[in-house]
Amino acid sequence: MNAIADITPDITPDIQARIIDAFNFRHATKVFDPERKVDARAFETILEAARLSPTSFGHEPFKVLVIQTPEKRELLRDFSWGANGMMSGTTGQLGTASHFGIILASTAETMTAGSDYLVDHYRTVKQLPEEVIEIFNGAYGRFQTTDHGITTDREIADWAGKQAYIVLANMMTTAALMGIDSCPIEGFDMALTTQTLGRDFGIDTGKWKPAVMCAFGYRAKDPEFPKTRRAMADTVSWF
Ligand SMILES: Cc1cc2nc3c(=O)[nH]c(=O)nc-3n(C[C@H](O)[C@H](O)[C@H](O)COP(=O)(O)O)c2cc1C
Repeated sequence: MNAIADITPDITPDIQARIIDAFNFRHATKVFDPERKVDARAFETILEAARLSPTSFGHEPFKVLVIQTPEKRELLRDFSWGANGMMSGTTGQLGTASHFGIILASTAETMTAGSDYLVDHYRTVKQLPEEVIEIFNGAYGRFQTTDHGITTDREIADWAGKQAYIVLANMMTTAALMGIDSCPIEGFDMALTTQTLGRDFGIDTGKWKPAVMCAFGYRAKDPEFPKTRRAMADTVSWF
């Protein structure tokens, strides 16, 4: 018996198989069937997985933009080489996905310890009493300055971006469990995407920067190549 089965005897082989099947099913889908749309309830489930994702300190330093109108998607095409089909000779994920998202990460303006934004988040979202807010301010301040050395604008936005990638993973796994395909996308020009979000999407780019994009839908065809991964022994070390 393996270690996971040892500590979780209630998890049936059936559930384990469904989880592993979902991870094998998920692949980075380059072209979706443009005729097949993800139904609204299924997509709400994917968004709920995003919303319920864990984040460091519970700061939720992310936001998901869902971009559905072709006109808005086209604004991203020129500089989104990982989603515009240039490598497959198609209209890519931007042209074919049922749902297309950009996950934004918070910037230093809101994610610096003691910011008005964070204090308000502790009060109104986390509903912490004032004395606990003091403790959070202190602990997060030390985390930023001492523990992890996250103090520059870039470092703070990158830290928020890490949280955004947890959201991304949860959205893709949730989709895969429902038989929905997806593609994570970081093939885009950061500066031009930020500029476009500010100018054409009304995003306050002082507070938010793009972290990663994601597309959802149903594959146009099965992947050409089987999934390859390192062996478990090269991936995990036990001590
Ligand atoms: C953060 C991230 C960014 C990625 N960016 C792109 C991208 O811009 N375009 C694309 O087609 N695939 C992209 N991929 C897909 C990877 O190339 C793919 O996940 C990897 O080769 C493993 O293949 P699989 O996902 O099909 O198992 C990205 C994957 C991740 C995790």
